[in-house]
Amino acid sequence: DVKVVTIDGPSGSGKGTLARRLANRLGFHLLDSGALYRLTALAAQKAGIALDAPEVAALAESLNVRFDADGAAYLDDVCVDDVLRTEQTGAMASQIAARPDVRTALLARQKAFAVAPGLIADGRDMGTVVFPDAPAKLFLDASAEIRANRRYKQLIERGLSANLSALVDEIRIRDDRDRNRAVAPLRPATDALVIDSSDIAIEAVEAQMLEYLRA
Ligand code: CDP
Repeated sequence: DVKVVTIDGPSGSGKGTLARRLANRLGFHLLDSGALYRLTALAAQKAGIALDAPEVAALAESLNVRFDADGAAYLDDVCVDDVLRTEQTGAMASQIAARPDVRTALLARQKAFAVAPGLIADGRDMGTVVFPDAPAKLFLDASAEIRANRRYKQLIERGLSANLSALVDEIRIRDDRDRNRAVAPLRPATDALVIDSSDIAIEAVEAQMLEYLRA
């Protein structure tokens, strides 16, 4: 029996960090579904294929990706983790993520991550589309300003350049696109526990999540 826990939410809500912490604590596998959209965008760029070209879906289906134990991503056996996590790549990912053909092409690959003993699935549509039958669903939110601030700190910590007011704008644009697209728009599953992390520390959010998972 495979227990799937879904964690959805907007950019900078803290999902990624919490998903990793929960996976480590529970000994579960981790699906960073955003990385698959980011990798597809990078693969298209590398192949000189426009983000709106029909070929992008086939590319998504045949991606040669793997993740190492630390979650770093490899495309065709080359580590691409640094470029993968930039805001530019995030913006490209959000553009191709609005395409139904690309989402369908990535579906089977995402479902294949559900392996015993369990999976923490991090994304936008984990609880609504990819794992609608998951017994545990979480949705993490926070204000745009706080999310931009967190993203800023993350980028600086990784040694990348960042501009806070540009980040607030970028986060708003990405939120709008993710929330208003026709396919798999970002929203909590009806049976998800919604946690607003604007005013609480990550440890407190983790404690709330663990309590929900124990119940
Ligand atoms: O880390 P961050 O939340 O900024 O981004 P991400 O989770 O890596 O996702 C990048 C983009 O991929 C998002 O803005 C979404 O448009 C898209 N995405 C999606 O549509 N569905 C998912 N399950 C995961 C990501």
